[in-house]
Amino acid sequence: MKMLITGPLGHIGSELLNTLKKFKNLKKLYLIDSARSNNLNVLFNLKNRNIKIKFIYGNLLDKKILNQINDKIDVVIHLASISNAEESFKIKKLIYFNNFEIFKNIVRFCIKKKSKLIHLSSTSVYGKQEFLVDENCISLQPQSPYAHIKLMEERYLKKNKKKINFITLRFGTITGVSKGMRFHTAVNKFCLNTILKVQIPIWNDAIDQFRPYLSLSDAVRVIQFIVAKNIFNQQTYNILTGNYTVRQILQIIKKNNYEIKIKKVKSPILNQNSYKVSRHKFEKFRFKFSKNLNKDIKNTLNLLKGIN
Ligand SMILES: NC(=O)c1ccc[n+]([C@@H]2O[C@H](COP(=O)([O-])OP(=O)(O)OC[C@H]3O[C@@H](n4cnc5c(N)ncnc54)[C@H](O)[C@@H]3O)[C@@H](O)[C@H]2O)c1
Repeated sequence: MKMLITGPLGHIGSELLNTLKKFKNLKKLYLIDSARSNNLNVLFNLKNRNIKIKFIYGNLLDKKILNQINDKIDVVIHLASISNAEESFKIKKLIYFNNFEIFKNIVRFCIKKKSKLIHLSSTSVYGKQEFLVDENCISLQPQSPYAHIKLMEERYLKKNKKKINFITLRFGTITGVSKGMRFHTAVNKFCLNTILKVQIPIWNDAIDQFRPYLSLSDAVRVIQFIVAKNIFNQQTYNILTGNYTVRQILQIIKKNNYEIKIKKVKSPILNQNSYKVSRHKFEKFRFKFSKNLNKDIKNTLNLLKGIN
């Protein structure tokens, strides 16, 4: 099998690189990343006896970059994107251009090469929802430019349905440690602030609002499962370890013997209502999600504890 991973230097991609042997029959792997965060250290020690790896250091906005791949590619895992939802309000033009244009380039590439595509969307496409939502929900209300682009990508794929085999995964917010991990996402930010003894910004009244979270280990296992089972059925799936309130996350941190300081703030993205998402559709494949986020939070706190 030959595969392309875009955005391999990021939070999810770097953990996929760590577990490459779980992709059975993988013979050749192309990686493309522009290293926005300059974390090229993710590429250390990738040498693998069974898999030929080629890293292409460049920007996917450059249409010629994909011409460097002459092989037929069986599967594309498209992770490259600017993924900071909160920042997306400030860099609206850039994020629309970057994320949607590179997505279209990747879709065209998949059509041309007859490659199957794993498309990463986000549960943030649901936005304000009163009740538990599943993939049949039609009143999607993305609250940020980032989430809106995810919806545009989903619609673009549906329009091109006849030409491409794909699966869309609406991931919850990632928790857990990787070489390319980021700290702008909720749980990681809470852990860092706790260790630094800095106040945790909690948007007004949001302490008991639910949001979907996804353990990084579940995230990579889902991707490996889809490739192994060849599930490219042009459908959309919610992927989450569980729905948690901010209070529940903070309680897990506290159980690890840390004191927490909270500061109430106003944020354009985080003042949305609570939403809970169902993972039942994906569970029908008999995939077993891990039980909770305790381990991710403990690991993150343990790795950081030396700094304060
Ligand atoms: N992390 C989460 O909580 C989360 C939740 C839901 C969905 N997702 C989605 O999963 C995917 C991967 O997320 P992540 O957390 O690993 O993201 P990340 O921001 O950690 O990594 C993204 C990578 O894409 C690269 N990139 C961005 N623009 C590029 C371009 N024009 N050309 C080449 N490379 C480019 C960056 O350099 C970076 O290494 C994204 O589509 C993200 O939106 C992430």
